[in-house]
Amino acid sequence: MEESRENWGSKIGLILAMAGNAVGLGNFWRFPYVAASNGGGAFMIPYFFALIVIGIPIMLVEWSIGRYGGKHGHGTLGPMMYLQAKQAMKPKKAIIVGSLCGMIAFAVTILVNSYYNHIIGWSLGYAVHSLLGTYMKPGVDSAAFFASYVQNPAMLIFWVISLLFLAMAVMKGIQKGIESWAKLMMPTLYVFGIILGIRALTLGSPVNPDWSSLAGLNFIWNPDFSRLSWQSAIAAAGQIFFTLSLGMGIIHNYASYLQPDEDIVTSSVATISLNEFAEVILGGTAVIPIAYAFLGPEGIKGSIGLAFMALPNVFTNMAGGGIFGAMWFLLLFFAGITSAIAMYNYLVALLEEDLGIERKKGAIIVFIGYLIVGAPIALESVLTKSANLFYFTEVDNWIGNYLLIVLGLIEIIIIGWCVKDSALEEMNKGGLWKVPKWFFRLFHQFLTPVTIIVFLVFFTRDYAIAGNFKLVPSYVANMPDFVIWVNLARLVVFTVLVIGFIQSYKSIKTK
Ligand code: PHE
Ligand code: NA
Repeated sequence: MEESRENWGSKIGLILAMAGNAVGLGNFWRFPYVAASNGGGAFMIPYFFALIVIGIPIMLVEWSIGRYGGKHGHGTLGPMMYLQAKQAMKPKKAIIVGSLCGMIAFAVTILVNSYYNHIIGWSLGYAVHSLLGTYMKPGVDSAAFFASYVQNPAMLIFWVISLLFLAMAVMKGIQKGIESWAKLMMPTLYVFGIILGIRALTLGSPVNPDWSSLAGLNFIWNPDFSRLSWQSAIAAAGQIFFTLSLGMGIIHNYASYLQPDEDIVTSSVATISLNEFAEVILGGTAVIPIAYAFLGPEGIKGSIGLAFMALPNVFTNMAGGGIFGAMWFLLLFFAGITSAIAMYNYLVALLEEDLGIERKKGAIIVFIGYLIVGAPIALESVLTKSANLFYFTEVDNWIGNYLLIVLGLIEIIIIGWCVKDSALEEMNKGGLWKVPKWFFRLFHQFLTPVTIIVFLVFFTRDYAIAGNFKLVPSYVANMPDFVIWVNLARLVVFTVLVIGFIQSYKSIKTK
């Protein structure tokens, strides 16, 4: 408890590191396709609703839990949530709450990386291909190019390079590693994004005169109310968790390196603003209109393909496409790396604080762990000779979507319904701005938990309908070769959850 913890070097460093944590592939790779396939403008209504009702209140809670945990020498979620729950319930129950939260955070930080780091690697590889112009050669089809790209084991080198980069950055610690990379990469990312955005807005469509980038802007900003649906609302809430890095432990972990009385209200609002600028303005105003101009309203829907199949097509047909392409993929790389650093640091902190393994060794262990958990995704595309990534999809279904929301719900219930007013007091300690009591009552104690519960019920129902609880979910029903990959993913998720529970339980017990 008295051991000295590292702190952030400066306010600007802290804000950029937190922005680096939040701004990730979620903003540029996930947001455009999720928004586009859920009705464009109609998606933005529940999106902003979820931002206010879920995003802001939970962000405040996570900074507060994290700073409090750090004050007591903890950077991981198990002990942190135990410290919270203990204020309101018997220690035995508090240990269970802590272990459940620690379990989810552990599983998320390990398993999200089984696919996230691959996308980072693809981004780096595609940045190189953009400069070399490989996918721009006449006759190259960008979808076929992507398929052959992911089936080629040689390309895994970019994944390994990314992992090595992460290991070295995290090894150097908070100030010299995480903070200095964020200070370099985040401003560069914004500059690249703004240049791409300006380029996007001056784009006519070579394909169809009705598909200019301005029509694309209209698609995302002019809601067609008839397309509002429960599904799009659920997708919006899920996107808010994902993009703000909520419900996974990494905001808490960064907040644990704050001074005990350092402001959190203003800083968390600053983090949200920087993330939303990157997502809504840069992701929404650059990526969506660029894609729209070339693909039109139907073509823009699509999944992981949007970033790696649709946009390369766009660069191929654009003057200076090699440079703009490289800029886009480097932007993706920087966004991904600064988020992956946060997850990496979470696991290194866990090894350090819970198991007494020093940072350097911890970073090497996590590196090896990531190679292992990342292997099935590499193997699936190489062995099945296809770009169908069902293992990836299934891990993301549970880890990147569902469990984040479950963890968010546990947190808000503990803070809003169990710890209550002393949680508000803790949140406001040292605040440049303070959260007013009415806000806490209205949001943390009422709207936020109720909204999450409603979302979770519908979310679960949707999963049941899609067959996600059956051995053969409907999305692989007619592709028997992939059933095994889906179930392998479930087995891995389950195993990691069990390990996470035992690990958290032990570490709380022995503290
Ligand atoms: N919030 C980040 C993003 O938008 C980081 C993140 C990592 C989110 C992993 C979810 C999963 O990409
Ligand atoms: Na984000």
